[in-house]
Formats: sequence, structure tokens, C-alpha cells
Amino acid sequence: MGEPSPHGPSPPLHNPPSTPLEAQMADTLTITDNRTGTQYELPIKDGTISAIDLRQIKTDSDDFGLLSYDPAYKNTASCRSAITMIDGDKGILRYRGYPIEQLAENSTFLEVAYLLLNGELPNAGELSKWENEITHHTFVHEYVIRAMDGFLHDAHMMGKLVTFIATLSTFYPKSKAVRDKATRDEHIVKIIAKMPTLAAWCFRHSTGRPYLYPDNSLSYCGNFLNMLFRMGEQNYKPNPILERALNVLFILHADHEQNCSASAARAVGSSEADPYVSLAAAAAALYGPLHGGANEAVLRMLREIGDVKNIPSFIDGCKNGDKRLMGFGHRVYKNYDPRAKIIKDLAHEVFAVTGKNPLLDIALELEKIALSDEYFVKRKLYPNVDFYSGLIYQAMGFPVEMFPVLFAIPRSVGWLAQWQEMLDDPEQKIARPRQVYIGADERDYVPMDKRG
Ligand code: ACO
Repeated sequence: MGEPSPHGPSPPLHNPPSTPLEAQMADTLTITDNRTGTQYELPIKDGTISAIDLRQIKTDSDDFGLLSYDPAYKNTASCRSAITMIDGDKGILRYRGYPIEQLAENSTFLEVAYLLLNGELPNAGELSKWENEITHHTFVHEYVIRAMDGFLHDAHMMGKLVTFIATLSTFYPKSKAVRDKATRDEHIVKIIAKMPTLAAWCFRHSTGRPYLYPDNSLSYCGNFLNMLFRMGEQNYKPNPILERALNVLFILHADHEQNCSASAARAVGSSEADPYVSLAAAAAALYGPLHGGANEAVLRMLREIGDVKNIPSFIDGCKNGDKRLMGFGHRVYKNYDPRAKIIKDLAHEVFAVTGKNPLLDIALELEKIALSDEYFVKRKLYPNVDFYSGLIYQAMGFPVEMFPVLFAIPRSVGWLAQWQEMLDDPEQKIARPRQVYIGADERDYVPMDKRG
């Protein structure tokens, strides 16, 4: 019958609960198979039934057993996780129990990274050791620069980043020892440390500027801004407001439980592939316009709309299915994404330094109209994290192609936390979904001269 149930065996129910009240009070689900009249009692744990418990429901001994069918995992929990909690109806997001609003206001990105990976906020000594470790692994092998020159000048920055995350796997073959905690910790540090360097080099290649090496005297975000934007200055000092804004954006993007890219990291990592290729797969998933590529798509959309007067016809296009309001809607949030609220406020602080992004007026009007339009209200479509982040990135001087790269840097922490948790979870195995086969039945090979 395949894998055992994590809850132990659940035999067919021969003595079903005698009264409706008794049935209501048990932490079980009673199923009657109307094909056979047999009743089964399945345990309910943490608001779930185990899909493997359905396998015992058969019409006869040749029957494979019942499967659950859930394309796109809309109602399937794939793991138990203690990292990130989202209440999509209430618009709540917490990392390890801490509300995202408190972390964004009080923390640094590296402090949040420590929290996500280790489960607790670091004390002063732990934080300084962690920051020191990350700071001293920021340099990347020179061969990456040589390889960079193999790309066309207009290659997409995210395409390059995905490639170079995977390339690091070839520099660190020992990272394949994924069951060894010390090895894992070593490469977690390396990845978090090197992501900004890789990202900055992808940017410098695209913009034709010379590559810069990390400056270990700067903060994580300060050093990143330095590698991106320093040209001839002797002592580059990042603008503290922009440095803090990047910190907040990185905190908000650090993890988001079982999204498309985290699921990719877990699925690829479940074959015990090394963390670099597992994260390259996650970054590839993030690249898509329905996921991390959405912030880029929002900017392109705002440019296409071009003027507030064109909003009504754009909204009509969304309603008749010709267009999609990028930066709106979410699989989990059926309320305002709490990250979008923080980013909207942050935008004003950034614009005070950079000057207002002229697309802001279109975004604000679009949001106002969409939030009062029956189509969006009925479907509970609210702004998500990507709706305003692109406006900030653009005002800070980033080209749109850099937006998903800016998402991937902090999200690498979430991918690593999810990957590590998956490897330590005794209930996890290699990810391998089932299918419902709907193709042809067995048939004989047809020679070429007999085919129509
Ligand atoms: N604009 C217009 N209509 C939309 C939008 C949108 N942005 N999002 C959903 N809808 C409509 C759908 O057409 C569908 O309508 P219907 O019931 O009449 O068929 C209904 O709302 C439900 O939408 P689904 O596509 O079933 O929702 P799903 O959970 O599969 O998709 C997704 C979620 C992919 C985020 C979707 O809302 C979307 O494409 N949004 C735009 C892209 C975007 O901003 N992505 C970033 C997400 S956040 C992140 O990944 C970091």
C-alpha cells in the first residue's frame, strides 16, 4: 500500500460514534464511501487529515485507493513549518511569531535572517558574530566575472543571477553533504553573504560599469549599495535613508512560507541536491511574472497606462479578461497585504530623498478605483507586496530588470530556512506527487505506412 500514515493505521470504522454529539466531539473525520457503504474514521491533526489515510478507501483489493486531487496545491499543506505564519483573511504576517510590522520598524535584515534560520532573535554577541561571519564571506570567485562576459550585454539580470547561483555549486562541491549540519551552516553563510555581490555584478555588467569588490566596513545593505552605485568617490557613504529603506524592503521580502519559489527550493532540495542548485531552482521560480517578476510587471503596466485618464479603460480590460492588474491579488491574502501597507509608507520617505516617482499618482488612483470596484471587491483582490515596491526601486535608480534580483537577495534567506527545515523534518521524503492519468489506454504500435 505504499507509505505508512504519519498518524498510524486507521482501519475502516466498524463502531462509528453512536450519537451525533459524540461524533462532533471527536478529533476525527468520518467518511462514508457510497460506492461500498464502508465508513472510515480519519484522525484530524492541526486542522488537517493526512492524504495517505485516504489510500485505505478502496472498492476492492485491486483498487489502488483514493487519492486527493489538488492542482496548484490550493488546499494541500505540504509540510509542517515553524518559520512564517500568514493569516490571509486578516492580513497578518509573522516571522517566528513576531509581527512583520515590529520587525520592519526595529530590526535589521541580518537580525531577521538569524531569526528565520535559528528560530530566535540573536542576543548582542550572537548578532555581532553572525554579522561578522556574513561580512567575511562576501567575496566571490573571480571566475564569475570571466563567466559574466559570456552573456550578451542585454541579458536579463535575473537570468544571469539564476545562472550564477547554480554556478557556485561547481565551486563548492563539498556543499553536497547536506545531511551534515556544519557543512550546511557554512554554505548558508556563504550564500547570504555572496548574493549581494552576485546581484551587484549582474547589474554592473548590464550597465557597462566596472565590477566593484565588497567593502567590509559597510553594513549588509550599505555594502550592496556601494557595489551597485559607487563610481569615482574615494569614501562612498550610502544615503542612510535609502540604506534603511533597503533594509526594510529586504526584511519584508525575507520569507513568505510555502510560495512557488520556497516550494521549488524544498522540492529540489528533497532530492538532496546541494543548496546552490536548490536555490537556483527557487530563483528561477521567482523570476516568473506571477511571482517575484510581478514588481517588474507592475512598472511596465504603470508605464503602459501612462496617464490617470487611461485608468478606466485599463480597469475594463482587467474585468473582461484582456488585462491583469499586476501587483493585485494573492493566493493567500484575501485582505490588504501587510507588506504593501509598510511599503506604501516607506515610499514617501524614499521620495523625500529621490524626488517623487511620477508613476505614483497613477498607482494611487489605480488602487483607489480597484478597491471600490465590484469586480475586485468581490474577488477580494487587494494590493500585494509588489504593487509599490517597484516605484521605490525605480526612484532609487534601479532599472526594472533588477527588481526580481532585489527580491531574490533577501528571499534567499527564506529559501534556506525552508530548505533546512525540510531536511530536518523526519516526515519529509523526496517530493513526488501523484497524477490522475487521463491519456490513452494500452494500444499497439502503428507502423508509419499505416498512420493516417
Ligand atoms: N487582475 C485581474 N483579475 C485578477 C487578478 C488580477 N491581478 N488576480 C486574480 N484575478 C481574478 C481572476 O481572473 C479570477 O477571476 P474569475 O474568478 O472570474 O475567474 C479570480 O480573480 C481569482 O484569481 P486566480 O487567478 O484564481 O487566483 P490565484 O490565487 O490562482 O492567483 C495570483 C493569485 C497569481 C497572485 C493572481 O492574483 C495574479 O496573477 N496577480 C497578478 C500578479 C501578481 O501581482 N503577482 C504577485 C503575487 S505576490 C508574490 O508572488 C510576491
